[in-house]
Amino acid sequence: MRTASASAIFPSSGTGSIHRTSHPPRTSRVTLSAPGRTRGRSASRCTGSPWTRAGPCSSSRASGRRDYGTDSRPAHIREVVDNSLRHLGVEIIDLLYQHRVDPNVPIEDVAGTVRDLIAAGKVKHFGLSEAGPNTLRRAHAVQPVTALQTEFSLFEREAEALFPTLDELDVGFVAYSPLGRGFLTGAAKPAREYGPGDIRSSDPRWQPGNFEKNLAATGQLRALAAEKGVTAAQLALAWLLAQGPRIVPIPGSRSPVRVEENVGAADLSLTAEDLARIKDILPTGGFGARYASGVPTWD
Ligand SMILES: NC(=O)c1ccc[n+]([C@@H]2O[C@H](COP(=O)([O-])OP(=O)(O)OC[C@H]3O[C@@H](n4cnc5c(N)ncnc54)[C@H](OP(=O)(O)O)[C@@H]3O)[C@@H](O)[C@H]2O)c1
Repeated sequence: MRTASASAIFPSSGTGSIHRTSHPPRTSRVTLSAPGRTRGRSASRCTGSPWTRAGPCSSSRASGRRDYGTDSRPAHIREVVDNSLRHLGVEIIDLLYQHRVDPNVPIEDVAGTVRDLIAAGKVKHFGLSEAGPNTLRRAHAVQPVTALQTEFSLFEREAEALFPTLDELDVGFVAYSPLGRGFLTGAAKPAREYGPGDIRSSDPRWQPGNFEKNLAATGQLRALAAEKGVTAAQLALAWLLAQGPRIVPIPGSRSPVRVEENVGAADLSLTAEDLARIKDILPTGGFGARYASGVPTWD
């Protein structure tokens, strides 16, 4: 058995949902996303991905598979962990996330289950995704939470409301979709140019009306990046890193070259003037909601 760094999420399919490349807070600044995850939804294999437009991952009863929804019942968490350990071929999961809060299972029960898994040596750290301050506090009281993962980027600022609680509890923040699902890299095309299975075909930020405004803003960001001799992706990631020491962006890419490029953002320091210019370009985030429907709400 290997002891490679690994993270896993639940709820998920019964096979367990795994990330071979982990993103432990404050030690790693980049993670790889599985091929196709940004491009579209994991329709054939429910990976715990949020790509289903109706909300968190669910598999179809019509297909004869179990419907997992947000199932965070203790027995299901234990099942996912055992399966993830087996599929990853590791002895311990470094960071185990609850992918979406389950309205039917008290968070204390979830945290207690993870606490037991930590005591059993199967898991090192506990993470939450798209959880609000109250949920975070209640979970943290049972089992300290190491990382909260939520969307945060130049386009998406709502997560800033969580930062005081994260500071108070000393919880790391993992910023997902830090490149605005690729828009902030300057590679966006109009929604109609993406296939129907591609999330960007329905993403509000790609829709007519919003798209043009977002394109104009990213054009200005690209110009600033060019002045500094960096790429737009690096500028967007450096901006995130400048928002506080507990922030760990996890850009997704299928390209090793882009991964290298993105890691380079860690060496880029933005000046107060750079930050002021970026604030002028996008004072409160991008145009359009972050999901077409099922935008996570927090408590
Ligand atoms: N917790 C949750 O609910 C949740 C939700 C969404 C995402 N996530 C996680 O967040 C991570 C990344 O999010 P994401 O993939 O949605 O969005 P993202 O990182 O904001 O953007 C990824 C997109 O940017 C492109 N890209 C990456 N680096 C680039 C570069 N240097 N230049 C040009 N294009 C570049 C990628 O294309 P190529 O692949 O072609 O490079 C891909 O299309 C993943 O680990 C994912 O699992 C978590």
